[in-house]
Amino acid sequence: MKLSTKLLAATAMVAAPAVHAAELEVTHWWTSGGEAAAVSKLAEAWEAAGNTWIDGAIAGSGGTARPIIISRIIGGDPMAATQLNHGRQAEELIEAGLLTDLTEVAEANNWADLINPPSLLDACTFEGRVYCAPLNIHSAQWLWLSHDAFETAGVDVPADWNEFVAAAPALEEAGLLPLAMGQQGWQQNIAFGTITIGIAGVDNWLAVNRDKNIEVAEGPAYTAVFEAVEAARALAADSSVQDWNLATNLVITGQAGGQIMGDWAQGEFQVAEQVAGEDYSCLPGLGLNAVLDTGGDAFYFPVIDDEETRAAQLEMAAMLVSPEVQVDFNLAKGSLPVRGDVDLSAANDCMQKGLAILASGEGILPSGDMNLSADTQTQVEDLMAEFWSSDLSAADAQARYVDIIRSAD
Ligand code: GAL
Repeated sequence: MKLSTKLLAATAMVAAPAVHAAELEVTHWWTSGGEAAAVSKLAEAWEAAGNTWIDGAIAGSGGTARPIIISRIIGGDPMAATQLNHGRQAEELIEAGLLTDLTEVAEANNWADLINPPSLLDACTFEGRVYCAPLNIHSAQWLWLSHDAFETAGVDVPADWNEFVAAAPALEEAGLLPLAMGQQGWQQNIAFGTITIGIAGVDNWLAVNRDKNIEVAEGPAYTAVFEAVEAARALAADSSVQDWNLATNLVITGQAGGQIMGDWAQGEFQVAEQVAGEDYSCLPGLGLNAVLDTGGDAFYFPVIDDEETRAAQLEMAAMLVSPEVQVDFNLAKGSLPVRGDVDLSAANDCMQKGLAILASGEGILPSGDMNLSADTQTQVEDLMAEFWSSDLSAADAQARYVDIIRSAD
């Protein structure tokens, strides 16, 4: 069996037109079990076309990987392709002329009509030119719940965040951790943003994140948010893991009741062969406000002074948006496709919830990275890292947050 697969692969390599064969190094931060399963779909598609995928996985989160990726590009040691998030992370690289213009691929493949929502293509566009290939939609506002944990505690699986908070004492009595939380600012910031939308609502969230409205940031709706985060901090007090996927694992194994995390958590449940709706549940917008933000991943191609490499970069950009790759990759990743014309009937319960929100056209938000500069985003993450891991009061945290928003760019 193994031998025939190898033979098949060899035949495919020979059959592929040699002139297009290319070796591209691709950097990304997909190193958890679910993420590795998903990125292998991209590598397989690239190699099936006769090319070679040189995998440049960077261990750790985006927070670790992004500075490495960016300094390699700035420092003259560019990879051929790299993952970044949708939004403003590549703004300065584009301005410096370090990223390949993909406009011809976008036009040839009709991205302007296909990419859904259009904000994903907008986030790739700078002064009318396209600089990235959108790959998926990941939303951050999800609460993942372990059915096992709630059964052990003798309470129903909560239908929203309020029920979750009310059930926490029963989980604690059963010796379980109510809320799993990885000790990293970006994860704590995801929880903060998600609780904001749940407690203060979409309009207040937009007023602050998009419009930088100081009155709302210092007003009562946000006071309630900071108090809710302070209460959530107590529910996660015994969570000592660092990586997000280790926190997800606490939910998968029934040691924790829930985790607030993006829908990439889905890949971990899938690899553990858990079934959505049976072994675990997911609540978009904490079950309070069904929203999804249109964050996720896009691929950028640093300028490399070699015509063949450039041609291969354009080929990879087109491949990432192709219908086959959109289906295979996103089903493994737990993300939604960036085009509406592909068949995702194989999607599980949780992905169907995301697809329904997307199709409704309501509750679709820009991601944090689209609203805030990388610098502002880092300041908020640093504040959240401190707030979640110290006894900083809700009032003090809110005051410091207001200062950040006041100077946000
Ligand atoms: C996000 C990225 C996802 C996911 C996650 C955790 O930034 O968009 O694809 O993998 O990080 O690594």
